Amino acid sequence: MSADPVTPVLTKRWLSPQSWRLSTYEKLEGYTAFRKALAGTPEQLVQLVKDSGLRGRGGAGFPAGVKWSFMPPNEDKPHYLVINADEGEPGTCKDIPLMMADPHSLIEGCIIAAYAMRSHHCFIYVRGEALHCIRRLNAAVKEAYEAGYLGKNILGSGFDLDMTIHAGAGAYICGEETALLDSLEGRRGQPRLKPPFPAAAGLYAAPTTVNNVETIASVPYIINGGADWFRAMGREKSPGPKIFSISGHVERPGQYEAPLGTTLRELLELCGGMKDGIPLKFWTPGGSSTPLFTAEHLDVPLDFEGAAEAGSMLGTTAVQVFNETVSVPWAVMKWTQFYEHESCGKCTPCREGTYWLAQILERMVEGNGTEEDIDTLLDVCDNILGRSFCALGDGAVSPITSGIKYFKAEFLALCEKNRADKPELVGAQAS
Ligand code: NAI
Ligand code: SF4
Repeated sequence: MSADPVTPVLTKRWLSPQSWRLSTYEKLEGYTAFRKALAGTPEQLVQLVKDSGLRGRGGAGFPAGVKWSFMPPNEDKPHYLVINADEGEPGTCKDIPLMMADPHSLIEGCIIAAYAMRSHHCFIYVRGEALHCIRRLNAAVKEAYEAGYLGKNILGSGFDLDMTIHAGAGAYICGEETALLDSLEGRRGQPRLKPPFPAAAGLYAAPTTVNNVETIASVPYIINGGADWFRAMGREKSPGPKIFSISGHVERPGQYEAPLGTTLRELLELCGGMKDGIPLKFWTPGGSSTPLFTAEHLDVPLDFEGAAEAGSMLGTTAVQVFNETVSVPWAVMKWTQFYEHESCGKCTPCREGTYWLAQILERMVEGNGTEEDIDTLLDVCDNILGRSFCALGDGAVSPITSGIKYFKAEFLALCEKNRADKPELVGAQAS
C-alpha cells in the first residue's frame, strides 16, 4: 500500500508485518465483528448494512443491504454467497492487493454476510492469473477452518459455513456476475438475461448474492463501528471509505484509501503529483469503462453522484492518469482492442461493433483514416450503447465517445494529416 492513507480503515493493517496471517489479524481486532454479528439476527444485520449506506464497490454502486434483503427468508433451496474477485477492469488494482494484504478481513466479512443471508456455502471467484492471491486465500481459509471460524457450528453458534476458493480462467466477461455464475457452474462464461436477478435464480438456480471483495471486506468495520460512524465518511448518498487504484503518470502510483467524494486534485497530493511535473491531459475516474475526464475535472467529487453529474461514472475507482505526452486516439485504440478481444460474442452489437471500432481506430492511428471515420466511429458507438446484452458493450464505447467529445481536434488533426499526406485515401474511403 502507498503511504499516508487519508482514511485508514480497509487498509489499516496492510503495512503490519505478516498482515495476512490469522495471528496478526486477531491482534488487530480481527474476528471481533463476526462474534457480535452472530449474536444478533440476520434481519438486524441486513438493516444495519442498509442503514450504513454501503454501496457495491465493484463498480455499479448498488446498495449492499438492499441487495442482501432480496434473498428469500426461507431456506427451501440452498442460499449461496459468491464473492466477485475477478478484478479485470483495466487499471483496477484494489481487490487483489486487499486479498493479498488482509485476506481475513474478506473471510470475516463473508461469514457475516453469509449469516445475514442464511447461506452455508460461500465461493470466492478469483481471477485465474492471480495465482499468488489464490494461494494466499487458500492459506487463510485453512487457518480460519483450523481456528473454528469456518466449518460446522462456528464457535458454538450453531451456524455452519463452508468456503471454496475458485480460480477463474482469465476472461474479462466473467467479472459480469451472471457470466461468473455460469463459469462457476462449469460452463463457458456468458451473461444471462436479467431478470431473474441472482437473488431469485443464481448459482445452480438457487438464491445467490454476488458481492465485490471490497464491499464485503467493509462489513466487519460497519459491525464494529456502527452505521453512523461509517456514514461520517464520504458523502450522504455515497458514504464510507474507498480504495482508489492510481496508475499512470503520477509520482507514486498505488492504492490510496480515502473517503468517497475525494477529488483527483486531493488524490494527486497523496500520490506525489504528476510525474516529472508534466501536466495532466486526461484520466479515467473508474477504469476504461467510465467516460474520460480531463484537467477541467480535477475538482469533481469522486463518488457515485459526483462522477455521474460531471458526465462519467465512479466505476471501480481505477484512476488512470495520462499526461500531455499521450495521444488520445492511440489510448482509445488500445482500450478498444481490449474490448474487442474480451467481447464474449453473445450479442451482435458488441461482437461486431467492437471489431469494427478497433479496425477503424487502428486505421486512423496507423495514418490511413479520414475525417469520415470519426462520424462512423460515433455511429457504431450509437448502435452499441444501450443495445448490447450486458455492460461490456456500453463500457467499450465510453473511451471513444468521451475521447471524441473532449479531444475531437486531436482525432481531426490525425485525419487532416492523413488527408494531406495521402489524398488518395479520401476517395478510397468514400467509395
Ligand atoms: P448493474 O447495475 O446491472 O447491477 C449491479 C448489482 O445490482 C448486480 O449485483 C445486480 O444483480 C444488482 N441489481 C441491479 N438491479 C437489481 C434489481 N432490480 N433487483 C435485484 N438486483 C439488482 O451493474 P453490473 O452490470 O453488475 O455492473 C456494471 C459495473 O461493473 C460497471 O459500472 C463497471 O464499473 C463495473 N465493472 C467492474 C469490473 C471490475 O473489475 N471490478 C469489470 C468491469 C465492469
Ligand atoms: Fe457478450 Fe459483449 Fe454482448 Fe456482453 S455486450 S453479452 S460481452 S457480446
